[in-house]
Formats: sequence, C-alpha cells, structure tokens
Amino acid sequence: MSHDDFPTDDPAVITAGLPYANGDLHIGHLRSYVNADAFTRGLRKLGQQAVYVCGSDMHGTPIAVNAAEEGVSPEELALRHHEQYEETFPKFNVDFDNYGHTHDETNVALTKEFVRTWEENDHVYEKEIDVGYDPEADQWLPDRYVEGTCPYCGEHARGDECDEGCQRHLEPGEIEDPVSALTGNPAEYRKREHKFLRLSEFQEYLQGFINRLEGTNNAKNQPREWIEGELQDLCITRDMDWGIDYPDDESGGDGDDAGEREDLVLYVWVDAPVEYVSSTKQYSEREGDLDWESVWKDGDGEIVHVIGRDIIQHHTVYWPAMLRAAEYTEPRAVCATGFVNLNGKGLSTSRNRAIWAEEYLDEGFHPDLLRYYLATASGFERDVNFSWDRFAERVNSELADVVGNFVYRALLFAARNFDGTPDVGLTDDVETEIAQAMDDYEDALNDYDLRTAGERTVALARFGNEYIQRNEPWKLDDDEAAPVIRDCVQLVKAVAVLLQPFTPEKADEVWAQLGESGSAADATVGDCLQEPPAEFGEPEELFTKVEEERVEELNEALEAKIESSSSDGDADGDDADADGSAIELEPLVEDRIGFEEFQALDLRVGRVESAEGIEGADDLARLEVDIGHEVRQIVAGIKQLHDLDDLPGTKVVVVANLEKAELFGVESNGMVLAAGEDADLLTTHGDSVPGTRVK
Ligand code: MSP
Ligand code: ZN
Repeated sequence: MSHDDFPTDDPAVITAGLPYANGDLHIGHLRSYVNADAFTRGLRKLGQQAVYVCGSDMHGTPIAVNAAEEGVSPEELALRHHEQYEETFPKFNVDFDNYGHTHDETNVALTKEFVRTWEENDHVYEKEIDVGYDPEADQWLPDRYVEGTCPYCGEHARGDECDEGCQRHLEPGEIEDPVSALTGNPAEYRKREHKFLRLSEFQEYLQGFINRLEGTNNAKNQPREWIEGELQDLCITRDMDWGIDYPDDESGGDGDDAGEREDLVLYVWVDAPVEYVSSTKQYSEREGDLDWESVWKDGDGEIVHVIGRDIIQHHTVYWPAMLRAAEYTEPRAVCATGFVNLNGKGLSTSRNRAIWAEEYLDEGFHPDLLRYYLATASGFERDVNFSWDRFAERVNSELADVVGNFVYRALLFAARNFDGTPDVGLTDDVETEIAQAMDDYEDALNDYDLRTAGERTVALARFGNEYIQRNEPWKLDDDEAAPVIRDCVQLVKAVAVLLQPFTPEKADEVWAQLGESGSAADATVGDCLQEPPAEFGEPEELFTKVEEERVEELNEALEAKIESSSSDGDADGDDADADGSAIELEPLVEDRIGFEEFQALDLRVGRVESAEGIEGADDLARLEVDIGHEVRQIVAGIKQLHDLDDLPGTKVVVVANLEKAELFGVESNGMVLAAGEDADLLTTHGDSVPGTRVK
C-alpha cells in the first residue's frame, strides 16, 4: 500500500460491507454499495486500476434464528437471499467485479488458513468462560440468542452488541441478566472452553495503524477511544452448528476434541471480512489481471473498505489485527457512511420500516436517481433522513433543471444548427473552467469525498447553463454562435464523463447522444477535454421531473407504513432489528472534559445581519453576524435548511475563537451552533445583546 495520490501504479481493491443474507435489501444498505461502486468508478476515471469485490454474509445467529422460524436450514435461507442480492445489485448499476459468499469453498478454506496461521504464530489461546444456556431448549445461547442488560451503559442489549445503547461490541458472558431469546426464560451461565485471539498484543500496532489510516474522519477518530483503553481479547468461537468449523476439528482428526467440540464454529466476524480477500482471490483466478496475494500479503495494492458507521470498530480494530496476525497487509482507507433513517428512526427489516430496493424500482424511478441521491447526500458521514420531498427536490432541481436542461439545450442547438460539434476551437475561458473542474474532481476523490466530486460536476453543468444564457446563441448568426455551441458541447462531454460514476446509465445516454462510441465508463477525466464527435443527431430529454402529486402519494404511503411498523413493533415486542440499524441518537461521549477545557471555547451571542447562498455550493450560506466587538463573516451549512431571507435579526450562538477556514473560496471566521440534521439554530431565551459571553 502507498499513501501516494490516486492513481498509483498498484491496483486498488474496493470492498463494501457484506450484506447479511437474511432479508431484502433496503435503501440503507444501498448507501454502502452505491458509494463504494461510485468510488470505484471514480478511481477508474483517474486512471487507477480498481476492482470492486463483495459477497453475502451467510453466517451468524440472525440467519440461524430466522431459518429456524421458517423451518428451513440456515444454508437454504442464506442462499435464497444471496441469489436475490445477485439479481438486485445490477439493477442499481452496482457492478461488483466479484460477488461471492462467506460459505463458499474459497472462503471456508481461506478462513481456516487465517486461523491456522494465528495458531502457528501463537496468537490464539483457550479460556474457560461463561456462556448463556437455555435449559428448557437445551441449547447454548450465542450472540443474539440471548438478550439482557449492557454492563457498560445499562441499556437493553443483545448478546453481541449494545444495539440500543452505547453501540459497543459485547463479548460472550458480558451481558447482565441474560434472557433466552428462544423461550424468554432467564438464561443460565455455564462454563465453556472457547478460543480467543490475543487482540491485546496488537494495541501498539493498532495505535500506529490508526495514524496511518486514510478515509473518513469518523473511521479515523472513533477507534482511538477503543485502542487507547485496555483492549479485550476477542472470542472467535461460538457454540453453534451454522458457520465455519474451527479448523482444529478437522486437522486434529476426530480425536479427543471431537464430540466435545463438534458444535464449535468460528464467530461470524472472523469469516465475514476474510470474504474480502476470498472475493479478490476469486476475481484474480478468473480474470488474471490482478495478483490477490501481492495486494493482500505484500502490500502492493490500495485496499479501501466502504462500510456503514455501525461497523467501524470491526474494520478499524478487529480486522486490522486479524490481518496482522495472519501476516497480511493493512487497508489503506476505511470510509464509513452515515445511516439512512426514516423520520429520524433507523430502518428496520423486521418491522418493515424501510424503503426496499425493489420497491423503489417498482415505483418506476430510474436507479441512477437514487444512486445520485445516496452518493451525494448531506455529507458522507452524516445520517440522512430519507424523504420523498428531498429526493424529488434534488432530482428536479439538480439533475433535471441543471444537468438535464443544459445537456438538452446544448445538444439540441448543436444538432439543429451544426449537425453536431461546430468546427471551431474551444474558448480559453471554458477550457480553463473544465480543467479546474477536473482538478477539483481529482482532489475530491483523493479526499474520499464523493459528494464534492458530484457537486463539482453539477456546478460545471450550472456554469454551462449560465454560459448559454449569457451568450444567447439563438440571437446570433451561425458564425457567431459556433464558438458558443462548441464550448457547450465540450461542457456536455465533460459533465457526462464526470457524472458517470454516479449515474452510469444516464451518462451513457449522453454519450450516445454525443455520437461517442463505446461507453462513458471507458472515458477518463482527461477525456473531458478531448474533442467531441463532429456529427450527432437531436437529443432526447435526460431526466423527467418528479411531479408534486406523485410526491404526495409517496409520502402518504410511507407515513402509513411507518405508522403500522411502529405499532407492530410495540405489539410483538420485537426490538431486535434484523439489520442492526435502530439508531436514533448518537451515543453520549464518555470522555469527560475539565471546566478549563470548556472555558477555552469563546462562545458568544450573535445576531445575523445578512444571509445569502454561496454560489456553486448546494448547502452553504454566507452569514454576517454581529458579535458585539465586530461583524463576522461566517459560512454555515444551512442553505437548504432555512429560508435565508428570514434569518436577519435572528440571535445565534457563535464559536468566536474557532480557527478560520475557507469554504468554496469564502472565508469563515467562526461557527454558528446548530442541532441535528435540520441545523436547528441555537438561540438565546432572553434578550442578551450580541457579544455576551455564553458560559
Ligand atoms: N454482515 C455485516 C457486515 C460484514 S462486513 C465484513 C453487516 N451486514 S448488514 O446487512 O447489516 O449491513 C450491510 C452494510 O449496510 C453495512 O456496511 C452496514 O453498515 C450498511 N447498513 C445497513 N443498514 C444501514 C442503514 N440504515 N444506513 C446506512 N447503512 C446501513 O453489517
Ligand atoms: Zn451499552
């Protein structure tokens, strides 16, 4: 692995968190797969060899529980979902270079090889622990078979994870007041020998790793808390039938251990990430243009994991230690997206509180619209509250009004008046504008910032619209109009190239309209400035707007669904979401700060004097805020969330001693405090004047 800018000479391997083969895919899952897919395509645009691998996660207790409820084998249930995912992903243009599953031969063999190497290197030991047991069902209770109280925060939790409270991973035997999820009876703790990976040995390594790690800030910062404190060793075995057998069982023959240990399988989080390697191996054995061992063992590759924010700990603590213990290399980057919520609540498979992937398509919407929405929503790390209003607004005002409108106007004029690209040179100004967009785009991808890459592309189309409007080619004769239209056709081509990772099918439509051969997928950023074909015909409209009545219908249907999903949940007391995504509030920060640290913040009452949107930035507004001593210019991410005309006169709370920053070329001298997704602005209750210190 290098830390050089993309493109590097080595191949990149991009992975997305494996879906549990346990239920239908919803738009929350799609956020990971679409972002990883767009990032892979984006890297290819930079000229980077990039391979996108994934697979279904077939093991674990939720699958075993659901299978038992349905009366089928876990394998049958998991394979059924696996096959369904293989069909659904391509419908969203999520184009894996290899899609395997954790129960396939490659992964079973490779997982066992990992564990054997750990054993050989003395990273594994056996220890007697308490494991939940249900005497009535006569069954061990690993992970989600048991529920109880989290020993860290006191919230209701399930055996392996404090899903409703502090989000911690829980080790077997840790949960308090254990209750069997099978019978609802109190569970007993019984002694059992289990295998442990000496995570504690990797503390120093992990501290170095986290400093090298690239990706999103949440993935780089959250683990610090875990690896600075004491690292608990990881129990890597479970008392279950369904999973990958502990390799001892086989290599040691049916000797002493057999019988006693026949139900011991590897913990699902051992074999699941190994699938990233197995899937790369399958790809390289099939295609031959990548050596999986040189990527994963020798470090001659750029490994990037894209995941949702719920599994940061697994990817930044357990997985790097597992790799290291098996003498593999470490990932270059971990990018963790925020969650997709509905009405501020987590999506839930078991409660049918979700917009399902197939359901979205059944509504007749083009997959690229959702891709664009998910890959450029709100900020990669932030949770997104999905709403049809916002979806429609972004489709209409960004894709239809800006991109679609520009492409159509420019190509229609070019086709009607010039039968294609006018035979004149490109204007310097426009060439510079496109070159600047190319640079910004490359920088954004190097910062793992898909949203800025997408925004920059739409900004280029917006520039095109303004350019055509300003130059009014329809008022000019053909000679005068030719350079304007020549510029516009080039801008269309650049937009098609840069938008391709987000909306691959739509980009290909533009590609065909331009008379280009092949696919926009094969064009690199450099092609933005390559001359477009001399001849092409009249275009067709690229996007249709989502009508208001349609949004109302969708809203009504969604509200009804949400209502029935919450009452179902109450009725059957089903609080264990199959997808583990019931997250409403961020957990409280455990680390306390001293009063002095708090006092270092210079918080002041301010009064907004003026507010205006920043051109080219979808969310940012430039505010002038009176803070008593002076009037400050502050940039705030509130453009879409507030009516800017209403803001002057509003009192706000300002962090006055924050370092200055520059956003979209505008200096921000301080920060305005706001709460949550909707940027609810903090204000004062009484009539303190601007400049008053908040303490
Ligand atoms: N099987 C594990 C991952 C193993 S990776 C070695 C898992 N599966 S999952 O089906 O629950 O989630 C699959 C992916 O979707 C994960 O990256 C997860 O973070 C993401 N998301 C699941 N629900 C989500 C939302 N509601 N919102 C955003 N991403 C979410 O975890
Ligand atoms: Zn907890």
